[in-house]
Amino acid sequence: MKDISLDFRFGLEAGKSLQAAIAGDFSQDMLPLKEKIEHARRILLDGTGPGNDFLGWLRLPEMLTEEALAPILEKAAEFRKKSHVFVCIGIGGSYLGARAVIEALKPQLAPALPDSPLVLYAGHHLGEDYMAELLASLDRFEYTLCVISKSGTTTEPAIAFRLLRGHLEKKYGKAEARRRIVAITDKAKGALKILADQEGYTSYVVPDNVGGRFSVLTPVGLFPLAVAGIDIRALARGAQRMRQRLSGENLDWSSNIAAQYALFRQFLYQGKGKKIELLSSFDSRFHYLCQWWTQLFGESEGKQHKGLFPAQAAFTTDLHSLGQYIQDGERLFLETLLSLQEGNSRVEIPCDEENLDGMDFVAGKRVSFVNEKAEEGTCMAHSQEGGVPVLRIRIPSLDEASLGQLLYFFEYACALSGYAMDINPFDQPGVEAYKKNMFRLLGK
Ligand code: PA5
Repeated sequence: MKDISLDFRFGLEAGKSLQAAIAGDFSQDMLPLKEKIEHARRILLDGTGPGNDFLGWLRLPEMLTEEALAPILEKAAEFRKKSHVFVCIGIGGSYLGARAVIEALKPQLAPALPDSPLVLYAGHHLGEDYMAELLASLDRFEYTLCVISKSGTTTEPAIAFRLLRGHLEKKYGKAEARRRIVAITDKAKGALKILADQEGYTSYVVPDNVGGRFSVLTPVGLFPLAVAGIDIRALARGAQRMRQRLSGENLDWSSNIAAQYALFRQFLYQGKGKKIELLSSFDSRFHYLCQWWTQLFGESEGKQHKGLFPAQAAFTTDLHSLGQYIQDGERLFLETLLSLQEGNSRVEIPCDEENLDGMDFVAGKRVSFVNEKAEEGTCMAHSQEGGVPVLRIRIPSLDEASLGQLLYFFEYACALSGYAMDINPFDQPGVEAYKKNMFRLLGK
């Protein structure tokens, strides 16, 4: 398995300081942050920081043994056999991890992975027309569903499940509908748990000590992924590899890329006043990975009027829209680029004798070669002319093993980065405000 690596080359001054820091030569202005991140790692590993009852995600990779995965794979195989469509109900951390991996790995122009059901999503918003279309299309397909809610009380998935359960029962009868539903929720509490027990649905538990946005390596992510045809064993191997890299007794700055990334972010936020982190990529398959990352960092760090605002851009598409602002607008940004090192296919640009389009200068080159040069040129433009510090995360290939590494890397870096800001990265008190108003307006 090839490792993910970081490239600070395009950070200019910040990049040089970070490069030196990683080699052991911390500049004066970085020393306080070095200490903060070392402290953050200590309290993360000792379990003495705020939110320490939500650290179960740290050890998830090593818990993904064959024994743990087998029942998930078995039920997923049963669902795969009997469904053209698989509906995944959930919101936030109960949905984004699975979608991030599925959308990254499925063929881009095909609806699903080969010989696998089409995955549709519900309960991730309250769009009525979407729900009407979904129900109408499910009339025509054989389908199964899973409903995911740790609390078991979240409004959006609860409404979607009520509607879809009704549809499924009408279509197949109550007994078969029960066999076509999997519930993933708390082990003891919540409305979904009560319903699942009463109906006898196959159920999986979201561990108490794992919060939603850190739950992709629990059944929350693993079950939908297995139904979608993703190799969850390979995903687990990737996460295990990253865990090994990050969890030595002492913090080795030269190899701990989560600490390096946390340092990059916090140095630019606390030290240089940057307010926005832009996660960009030159491959559109990373779109939902960026959404997952946005939720992970936004919900973990945006507290007590602190935190980098997580934004995202898809290049080269967005170079023709946001590109102007990034290059030339207010200097609010740092940029983290997800850089794919090797794609899966080859397409060469043909020669054209007439050359009327003037593109013969790239004839014989692969499309990926042009994309690489666009990436390189953009990094130079943003960092040198635009003054945007750029960090590249090099991802060797787009497969389960790389994504397993990446997911765990981001979770670990997020925890370090949050602790380095003296906040609790594992709660989300701000999410309650809209719910309180909505429930009052609905007369709950
Ligand atoms: O990360 C989180 O904790 C949240 O995004 C939750 O995952 C989201 O609000 C859904 O909650 P639940 O799984 O309880 O329905």
